[in-house]
Amino acid sequence: MKEEKKPVIIYGGSFDPPHKGHLALAAAALRQFEPSALYFVPGFRTPFKDFRPVPFAGRKAMLKAALAAAGLAGRPEVKISSFEARLGRVVYTYETLAYFRRLHPGAPLYFLLGSDCLAGFKKWRRWRSVLKCANLLAGLRPGHTPGRGVPFTALAGRFPRVASSDLRAELFLGGKPAGLHAPVLRLIEERGLYLGRERERLKKMIMPERYAHSLGSARLAVALAPALGVPAQQAALAALLHDCARDMAVPALVRYSLKNAPRTPRLRALIKEAPVLLHAWAGAERARVEFGIDDPEILEAIRLHATGAPGMGPLARLIYVCDLAAPGRAFAEAALVRKLACRDFNAAFLAANYVKLVYAFSGGGWVHPLSISLWNSLQEKKKG
Ligand SMILES: [Fe+2]
Ligand SMILES: [Fe+2]
Repeated sequence: MKEEKKPVIIYGGSFDPPHKGHLALAAAALRQFEPSALYFVPGFRTPFKDFRPVPFAGRKAMLKAALAAAGLAGRPEVKISSFEARLGRVVYTYETLAYFRRLHPGAPLYFLLGSDCLAGFKKWRRWRSVLKCANLLAGLRPGHTPGRGVPFTALAGRFPRVASSDLRAELFLGGKPAGLHAPVLRLIEERGLYLGRERERLKKMIMPERYAHSLGSARLAVALAPALGVPAQQAALAALLHDCARDMAVPALVRYSLKNAPRTPRLRALIKEAPVLLHAWAGAERARVEFGIDDPEILEAIRLHATGAPGMGPLARLIYVCDLAAPGRAFAEAALVRKLACRDFNAAFLAANYVKLVYAFSGGGWVHPLSISLWNSLQEKKKG
């Protein structure tokens, strides 16, 4: 009699970071199917979508830590595959399954996924080939009804939804999400992943109150980023660093600007009339040199966070608003602009420009022409 082969389970995902939801699903699949192998297959992450994704080695280390915490380390059938990472490009599931099919001829293949992925399954590249090659295996969330017409096997049990994107947003701000195992959190801290390294360096450059303001701006920026199509990490990083030169003493700031940011618009007038404003251009330069930021959008956002300028990009507009409206700002307009930003970002941007100009004019002194140009350009837009 022909011996029935044991199943093989493929668990694809970004695992950025691997969380308790992933491990609960894997543990249930191991219990229910007793497979000969369960492969975690961390995918390549596109820098376009993720800005600065955690490299494969970091995600593999976190996955190992999560497996140990969940009591799955050391089981010979549990493996981490570098198949997709080795290719260094986006790999479609049908390609991954074809690879494992060759590796395990004759064994029933199962592709493990969260039930929320089922709804969009028919949009996957060559989804029919996926179904031909493997059975889908899904863990259902309480109260969740999966998409119709996609055959799948449900894992026994109910699985809470934990989204990696929510965890990342929390991690960028230095949070310790409950959805992660403690050893994973420790590893993130040790390696300075998810902007940990940048936050530590920033803390040494600015006063504690300033750091709290930067963190508050970043919290707001991360919350508003999806509506503007800005990646959360890019928003968090720009907001964290926007005031990195704000606590330099004026003489040092002037010296620094003359030497390192000589193309600051209206440099001489700034030095004479409003030297503190130099921190925006000096900050962009420090972000570039001391934090290795080469992203032009982040540098633009830091440069223009105080004055604004016509034609700012979405990230620069976001940071301009979040700097003014960050939680913890002492003036009443901050809370109003913050509330408005959640409903209508463009209106909040206009309001932020107004509040900043009123503040500048009420001082009775010189106002940077970029701020006035921004005001005029927004008025023209309103009429046009
Ligand atoms: Fe500032
Ligand atoms: Fe600020």
